[in-house]
Amino acid sequence: MDIRQVSNKRKIMSFGQTSSLYMEVAKNLKVPAGGSVVEFGCGPASVVPSLLEKLDEKPEIIGIDFSTQMISIANRKKEATTWKNVHFKCMDMYELAPRCFMWVA
Ligand SMILES: C[S@@+](CC[C@H](N)C(=O)[O-])C[C@H]1O[C@@H](n2cnc3c(N)ncnc32)[C@H](O)[C@@H]1O
Repeated sequence: MDIRQVSNKRKIMSFGQTSSLYMEVAKNLKVPAGGSVVEFGCGPASVVPSLLEKLDEKPEIIGIDFSTQMISIANRKKEATTWKNVHFKCMDMYELAPRCFMWVA
């Protein structure tokens, strides 16, 4: 299930509902042991807390965004928390062809 399938279940999405949407998507992600989650267009890392809360295996999480400002906010959040195995990279997602789970939000 990806974010579009979850959001299609809802008639109206307000900004306040995004957190529960992220939780629902994260709960339904199936990450194989040793796998990684790559979030394309991670923005300011709003999704990472849901992934860390809902994923049992605590995989490596890689957030990619081409905005230096977004990556800078994401890294500041990371420094202010105890997030482990979470990395952010400033790049265009189209430069990457990973063999991993995709989540485009
Ligand atoms: C609507 S925001 C979503 C942020 C976050 N995923 C969330 O759900 O809160 C979309 C993000 O995608 C990034 N983005 C758009 N096109 C991109 C590309 N080609 N490569 C990397 N990041 C991209 C933008 O900079 C923006 O931060």
